[in-house]
Amino acid sequence: MEVFNATTWYILTVLLLYIIWFYKRSFAYWKERGLEYLEPVIPLGNAFRVISKKLTVGEVFAQFYLEIKERGLKHAGVFVCWKPIYIPVDPEIIKRILITDFEYFPNRGLYISEEKDPLSTHIFNAENSEWRNLRAKLPAAFTSAKMRKMFAIMEKLSKQFKENLDAYATNGTPFEIKSEISRFTADIIASCAHGIETNIMKKENEELLKQGRSFFDNQFHISKVLLVITIPRHILVKLNFRIMTREFEKYFSNLFQNIMKYRKEKEIKRGDLTDIFIRLNEKHDDERDFSGNKPIDPINDIEFVSHLTAFFCAGFETSSSTVTFALYELARNPEYQSKLRTEIKKILTKYDNNVTYDAVMEMKYLDNIVDETLRLYPVLPILPRQCAKDYKVPGTNVTIEKGTYAIISNMGIQRDPEYYPNPDKFIPERFSKENNAKRPFISHVPFGEGPRICVGKRFGILQTKIALVTMLRNYEILLDKKTSNSFTYARTELILRKAGNVWIKLKHLEV
Ligand code: HEM
Repeated sequence: MEVFNATTWYILTVLLLYIIWFYKRSFAYWKERGLEYLEPVIPLGNAFRVISKKLTVGEVFAQFYLEIKERGLKHAGVFVCWKPIYIPVDPEIIKRILITDFEYFPNRGLYISEEKDPLSTHIFNAENSEWRNLRAKLPAAFTSAKMRKMFAIMEKLSKQFKENLDAYATNGTPFEIKSEISRFTADIIASCAHGIETNIMKKENEELLKQGRSFFDNQFHISKVLLVITIPRHILVKLNFRIMTREFEKYFSNLFQNIMKYRKEKEIKRGDLTDIFIRLNEKHDDERDFSGNKPIDPINDIEFVSHLTAFFCAGFETSSSTVTFALYELARNPEYQSKLRTEIKKILTKYDNNVTYDAVMEMKYLDNIVDETLRLYPVLPILPRQCAKDYKVPGTNVTIEKGTYAIISNMGIQRDPEYYPNPDKFIPERFSKENNAKRPFISHVPFGEGPRICVGKRFGILQTKIALVTMLRNYEILLDKKTSNSFTYARTELILRKAGNVWIKLKHLEV
């Protein structure tokens, strides 16, 4: 027994020494490359703050950004566990990574495995030429003419939304607002992008809502993000790692393959996103790749499902979070609420009280409210990029090696006191025309920037606006006491969500 104990201790000591040596060697990475770095600790590197300071990933990267900036540096290194991560804070370097030198950083480096996790192949994770070929086809779904058509659908659905809210206002019952908004935005995206009437607002499709909500829990759960960043992809594939659950895969495969079958059988063409992906699923001799020169290989059925699923899920959850954050701030700041309502009413009077596309586009203070909400609460608080070939950072002696992650903290940028004095305060007037002109354009990037910018940006903004207009023109919005005063974010997710629900009360407005 004693001998066994001694051997066990010996093995454990050797293992421990190896781990310490491995970490010490890994932590020397940035020093050896002449880049300043934030001091890491074993075993989580700089990510220990997620645990020790009870912060979310988005907040931790925002802290990195602000600390690097305070030290007067243009960029620095950090470590997530033993993995070196490059953090630029200088607006010129950020601009180069996202836009000018995009060819060095074309991918996010997230997990993708067609074989082991078929629904991970969606456009957000897609890489290189697969991504380029897809992305080149998508603007056709979001032209100005299409946005107007989709606005008409949004406006029609806002009637049901109002009906649901009227019941709460009439009874004076407090309710959890995010859930109501998600129902509205989910019905919108399903109708506009997939051509299906889901009636989630009428509570006829609870399973779709449940499955849709789980997309971001799957894609961005902190434990999965850590694994994806630290363990090489080929090892994760060997270990049969999955981001999307089998249940999720089965549910959406059924749904979208049936839609494809139905449209093909009935020869239905709606000119929407689903049509674009159906065409990409077929062999067309005149269909060219992103360069316009080579014929394109069709996407297979499961890729078709994977893209439409991502659009459905990204399409409702991001906007409903944004509307929730906006309402939370408007309820806490009645003066902004009242100023916005005055604008909405004034402009609608000009349009005979019809909520039209042009009327909403004319609402400039509404723009300020949405911009300020997205500044303070960027739903996706970091913009990850993976270096595709060695990149010498212009104006420095630092080279970012192929495979290294560069993480741009849009949350950090947007809370930088140099651009936004008193950065934690909600002040919509920051986004007046004069104030906008004073900041570098990279100082507001809630939708990312460059070729990988959010493809649904205009759509997301439009549905956020119609939800706000519907609410503000009809009700006074009050925060219910069930909403906690201490503001924290849900910690296990990368996506920014408020921990605890936002409960509000509505009061009908006097006409
Ligand atoms: C307020 C709402 C939204 C916010 C804040 C938001 C934010 C973002 C951000 C930050 C990115 C990453 C950009 C980058 O890496 O540079 C992104 C990508 C993306 N978003 Fe959105 N989004 C919103 C709404 C939507 C909507 C409504 C859709 C679909 C209709 C959508 C579909 C996508 C897709 C497909 C991508 C991946 C684009 C690519 O890699 O080419 N988003 N979004």
